[in-house]
Amino acid sequence: MNQLKYSKKLMKYFKNPKFIKNIKNPDGVGEAGNIRCGDIMKMKIKVKNNEIKDISFQTFGCPAAMASSDVVCELAKGKTLKAAKKLKKEDIIKKLGGMPPIKIHCSVLGIQALKKAIKNYEKKSKK
Ligand code: FES
Repeated sequence: MNQLKYSKKLMKYFKNPKFIKNIKNPDGVGEAGNIRCGDIMKMKIKVKNNEIKDISFQTFGCPAAMASSDVVCELAKGKTLKAAKKLKKEDIIKKLGGMPPIKIHCSVLGIQALKKAIKNYEKKSKK
């Protein structure tokens, strides 16, 4: 059997995610799905003065998706919306100490959900 080799850092994030929680009354919510596996990611943000003050995720996803999303939250928290929008999958993979090539598609789920949450917030705040 071909076993996936995850980095130690990835396993650390997977086993101890800090951002799996449910933020009440979020300012923005974003959901992303992975068509390759059917997994779903939901991200919620709290925004103040154009900065992400709090962030959380909930998922039906694999270890790579969970670890990536925890890193997305860690990197996005405290950033301005503009800076958070610039996060790329390469930033996430680097922070995780690499990712098996077959799992790269999982690393984008969190970023997509974050960007949708920001869009949702921007749409609501225009009203
Ligand atoms: S296998 Fe579905 S997100 Fe990784």
